[in-house]
Amino acid sequence: MKPLDLASVEPHPAAADAFVHIDDLRVRFVSREATVRAVNGVSFDLERGQVLCIIGESGSGKSVMMRSLLRLHPKKRTVIEGVMKVGEHNIANVSERTMSELRGATISMIFQEPMTALDPLYTIGDQIAETVMRHEKIDRQAAWARALELLELVRVPSPERRLKAFPHELSGGLRQRAMIAVALSCRPSLLLADEPTTALDASVQIQVLVLLRRLQQEMGMSMIFVTHDLGVAAQIADKVAVMYAGRIIEYGEARDILLAPQHPYTKAMLTSTIKDQVRGKRLEAIPGTPPDLRMLPDGCSFAPRCSHATPECMVAVPAAVSDAGGHMVRCIKVSAPGGQLVSDVKHDAPLA
Ligand SMILES: Nc1ncnc2c1ncn2[C@@H]1O[C@H](COP(=O)(O)OP(=O)(O)O)[C@@H](O)[C@H]1O
Ligand SMILES: [Mg+2]
Repeated sequence: MKPLDLASVEPHPAAADAFVHIDDLRVRFVSREATVRAVNGVSFDLERGQVLCIIGESGSGKSVMMRSLLRLHPKKRTVIEGVMKVGEHNIANVSERTMSELRGATISMIFQEPMTALDPLYTIGDQIAETVMRHEKIDRQAAWARALELLELVRVPSPERRLKAFPHELSGGLRQRAMIAVALSCRPSLLLADEPTTALDASVQIQVLVLLRRLQQEMGMSMIFVTHDLGVAAQIADKVAVMYAGRIIEYGEARDILLAPQHPYTKAMLTSTIKDQVRGKRLEAIPGTPPDLRMLPDGCSFAPRCSHATPECMVAVPAAVSDAGGHMVRCIKVSAPGGQLVSDVKHDAPLA
């Protein structure tokens, strides 16, 4: 496997025309019993019209990060630090009023379970029309015309009839499309998709992915797409960020991450996915469990599960090191200050 070509040891530089600029985002939930550190210094940039896939095991902070971008967390118990710039706005400190203007209009979200976003008491047409009228000066008739257009756009068959349907009257795949229509109703600039196809059958999943990719390109939206499935990432991503214990441990062009991963965690995830496909059985999990987010270790948070770990891995969180192509990795076994490659990590090397 190609070693990381370290042209610089700087963290990835901010893209000049980034539409989304996240810098050192930290999110923690505070209660009397404990503090849960769910996001621990996430930074990335996303250009207009690009798709960033965030991959990682369950509990790595993917949903917490996404919900932070819409400020959906309970305010009292949540501490959010860092910069979350979307267009001109820093989501971390805009007023509640601006936030509710941005929510659903500039930034929209689709979820794994459509019933999270759809109201069971209203027809699909009403829900789309209401969303449009909340954000735009538009009358009911025009809003319903937009709703029909949107159902056509997301390829719902017999859209006139479906406008008058309630969510429970639709199949899972159609409900997912209806939720996408609601999310797109105000032509958002940024679409957040949190495992939107995980609950669907494989064939429906592919259809929804192809649809999302097409809409994203046609509408020129930026999209942040969360998944634990590397196959899904390969279908849809321009950029991939691998998240572990609330940090991005590897980031870069999708093809670099998926074809030439550098971090032992990314490699282990890819290996288990390939084994899964070859053997035709369920994903073989990486041995061990992610750290307790109430008590994060001092060093690399993957070290306790990493077959390459040595005592020096436990000392400090590895710095982010990028190559000239923007491929970033946080692992002292892959890179070291000064740009020297310490070792080309081989996945099945014996325990050090
Ligand atoms: N409101 C909350 N209060 C306390 N802990 C939370 C809250 N929301 C999420 N968490 C914790 O944050 C961690 C990351 O969760 P999440 O972002 O949902 O993971 P995933 O990567 O699977 O989406 C988990 O340990 C979860 O229990
Ligand atoms: Mg999640």
